[in-house]
Amino acid sequence: MDVLHIVGARPNFMKAAPVMRALAEKHGIKQTLVHTGQHYDANMSAVFFEQLGIPAPDVNLEVGSGSHARQTADIMCRLESVLLERTPDLVLVYGDVNSTVAAALVCSKLLIRVGHVEAGLRSFDRSMPEEINRLLTDQIADLLFTPSAEADQNLGHEGIAESKIYRVGNVMIDSLIRLLPEAMKTNLDHLPDRYALVTLHRPSNVDDEQTLRFILDSLLEVNRELEVVFPVHPRTRRRMGDLGSHASNLRLLGPLPYIEFLALQRRATLVITDSGGIQEETTFLGIPCLTVRENTERPVTVTMGTNILVGQNRHKLGQELCQIIEGKWKRGRVPPLWDGHAGERIAEAVAGLNT
Ligand code: UD1
Repeated sequence: MDVLHIVGARPNFMKAAPVMRALAEKHGIKQTLVHTGQHYDANMSAVFFEQLGIPAPDVNLEVGSGSHARQTADIMCRLESVLLERTPDLVLVYGDVNSTVAAALVCSKLLIRVGHVEAGLRSFDRSMPEEINRLLTDQIADLLFTPSAEADQNLGHEGIAESKIYRVGNVMIDSLIRLLPEAMKTNLDHLPDRYALVTLHRPSNVDDEQTLRFILDSLLEVNRELEVVFPVHPRTRRRMGDLGSHASNLRLLGPLPYIEFLALQRRATLVITDSGGIQEETTFLGIPCLTVRENTERPVTVTMGTNILVGQNRHKLGQELCQIIEGKWKRGRVPPLWDGHAGERIAEAVAGLNT
């Protein structure tokens, strides 16, 4: 069987790695890796391949950045000829980025079977580009690999047949479990004992100047209590450039490699983020997480984990920060099937398919 994987953006890489590893153990499965080039800087892409042990892509579509329409359309046009030439039996797409939905659309028109890894997540907020990507990808996918019972229910409500759904667990946590021992060896002597680790890149938080300025002001307030360590995403860096030295008191870093970032999360007093994956990683690590969003497509991190949604409410952020500093934060549990074996369960299902 020929399986072709599509990756494009940073959060795809830690999800594809365990699936590729597990499929490599199966007999008779040939794998091809296509990188769309949605993320292209070495520190957003190549370093992740290296650390996660992902083979170099067989094809790079080199689409680069652009508006949503342009980026999605470029991926579709360039991928179509690759799929026509390689005729895979199955294409696997990951997460909720533009590369995910673009590839799923091309496959469905070419009648190539497509599997969606991390299916069924919903924020129910259609102003988020990722929510549109998730909804559309799940509607046209043939196999839906879900992390939780909640995701299965979401798909059920949208009329997806149960026979297409495989509950496999959280594949991103497979990578975390495998590389945590490596991360623990990272030297963090240059950092204070206690710090708040921050990441921000959602368009709704960083694209509007006033909103970004407001959030940076909140971080400056946090910084009075606890040093803020902030690896800055390129999208955010560009927007912050427009604000001059507004954040110059914060410890700003460039985007970090997977292992170094994991080390920083593991040692943090708390994490402040608007990322999806980091809400899950902190829940697994048992580190308090304050999420600068009104909603989450990963509600289990709130109901079972260490995550609290604070939105853009500076008062709530301050209150929760005080609780954490005083050691009075809610402890969480690790959700079911976050056990390091989700990739193997996907490989099992794929190996059982008829070609
Ligand atoms: C994308 C995903 C988002 C994911 C995030 C993780 C979509 C719609 N969004 O958002 O779900 O959480 O990746 O990082 O797919 N840039 C660089 N170098 C790069 C890549 C991007 O400088 O290697 C800059 C460019 O200025 C670009 C901007 O970052 O315009 C945004 O990149 P893009 O891929 O469009 O979206 P992200 O914000 O990274």
